[in-house]
Amino acid sequence: MRLIDFGVRHDEKKYIEEWSKENNIEVKIVTDLLTPETVQLAKGYDGIVAYQQLPYDEKIFDKMNEYGIHVLSLRNVGVDNVPFEALKKNQIRLTNVPSYSPEAIAEYSVAGLMALLRNLKHMFRKIDNHDFRWAPDIGRELNQLTVGVAGTGRIGRAAIKIYQGFGAKVIAYDKFHNQELEKQGMYVNDLDTLLKESDVVTLHIPSLGKGHTVINRESIAEMKDNSIVVNSARGDLINTKDLYDAVASGKLYGAVLDVYENEVGVFNSDLSDQEFSDEVLEKVIKSPRFILTPHIAFYTTKAVKNMATISLNSMVSELETGTSENEIKLEK
Ligand code: COI
Repeated sequence: MRLIDFGVRHDEKKYIEEWSKENNIEVKIVTDLLTPETVQLAKGYDGIVAYQQLPYDEKIFDKMNEYGIHVLSLRNVGVDNVPFEALKKNQIRLTNVPSYSPEAIAEYSVAGLMALLRNLKHMFRKIDNHDFRWAPDIGRELNQLTVGVAGTGRIGRAAIKIYQGFGAKVIAYDKFHNQELEKQGMYVNDLDTLLKESDVVTLHIPSLGKGHTVINRESIAEMKDNSIVVNSARGDLINTKDLYDAVASGKLYGAVLDVYENEVGVFNSDLSDQEFSDEVLEKVIKSPRFILTPHIAFYTTKAVKNMATISLNSMVSELETGTSENEIKLEK
């Protein structure tokens, strides 16, 4: 079996090499992203592993079919940049890594929230200038707040455990109810109720597709005054301009954003010597009431290792048995 792994970052390489040695399976490591041009490097290989934020072009899958490659294993969870129709047309099976470390994302969301509640961004900026005064950065305590968790999959549930540990009151919303949480009476009936009753709304749901936001001018109007939004899920769940305006006007307290609707090509890039033209993002960066980070909630040694190795294990299972526990059903 010969595999090829695209878009490999430096921090992933050693885990792939170790896996290759342990399993005695050749894995060609390619740093380029998977595009209609680079896919030709896969000729002669049995399966393609990849991760990228850029959309996977449909032409890639025509070429894969032509080369007789019928499995694509992603190293990440989100499949919103994959054209399912093109996969179906070319009889290509898709796997992802649904659970590389729910705790990584959950812990990060809470860390971001704590930073915001204790005004650390502003405090650090002041300290950089040797301004050691307390005011105006008086904090708020998590144990006094109601946290509304939207989405009670693995990440949402990991977040709930942490919030409960801090003594916060937790309520939750999801289309699908988890039995354990149901028993605890944690669910509210709809997202509107969650927004209305929460001091902190934390999003742990997948993208609903471009233009389908859950946090926007209309929904913000329903939210509690002085409440907070935390998003480490998908940028397109939020209309960022509406969110910024709500914080700037004092309706909302602030937000923690590890994802951003226009992050592709920006996050994980060094743009320090370039003209920066995204005005909304610039305002968010400047505001002490926004904790903004470049999609790093997942970025831990445990998660990166799991992403590298679980994707390869799924590929082996697909090639040996025709399926795997991480195969995605291609109905969108
Ligand atoms: C995903 O797994 O889909 C993520 O959002 C993390 C990604 C940046 C590797």
